[in-house]
Amino acid sequence: MKEKISIMISEERVDQRIAELAKEISAELEGESVVLICILKGSVFFTCELAKRMTIPVTLDFMCVSSYGNGTKSSGIVRISKDLDQSIEGKNVIVIEDIIDSGRTLSYLMELLKARKPKSLRLCTLLDKPDRRVIDVPVDYTGFEIEDKFVVGYGLDYAQKYRNLPYIGVVEFIGDEDE
Ligand code: IMP
Ligand code: MG
Repeated sequence: MKEKISIMISEERVDQRIAELAKEISAELEGESVVLICILKGSVFFTCELAKRMTIPVTLDFMCVSSYGNGTKSSGIVRISKDLDQSIEGKNVIVIEDIIDSGRTLSYLMELLKARKPKSLRLCTLLDKPDRRVIDVPVDYTGFEIEDKFVVGYGLDYAQKYRNLPYIGVVEFIGDEDE
């Protein structure tokens, strides 16, 4: 199957929105420190850009959770292939996600992290597709709400490709799906 990418959200708009989020989060947590949990691999670019613009003390940790194969439909099966390196007990924690779609991955993950007794637990996502929600997940910070289109760039992939695009692009599939 072939695909074509067109720009949905420009690099400038994404960067500007991330700066706003960083300011908002830093103000809300003023006087505190925070652990940003980057959900690999899609949230790498977003986490870095957000962390760079935050003005409170930040530490980073990484987790790899997936409910997707190489296609575009959620399997509903959540797998942890890399867990956190450090305990989050008693800490302010913000989970940084690239996109919330069905909500299955995050709903599972937030429950798992809550059981580890952080001082506070928040969720920040660059993109949200509210029309696709199957399981309700409370989101504290959202970059952009988007319509139900498959997007790539700024960390998001299609079959591991296009993560390095500096903007959010829409994938248009040409021909038949071969998987
Ligand atoms: P959920 O469990 O259905 O909410 O799936 C969330 C995960 O699916 C995200 O972290 C992405 O890895 C992937 N995903 C959902 N929608 C898209 C998309 O439009 N482009 C790329 N990946 C997506
Ligand atoms: Mg992901």
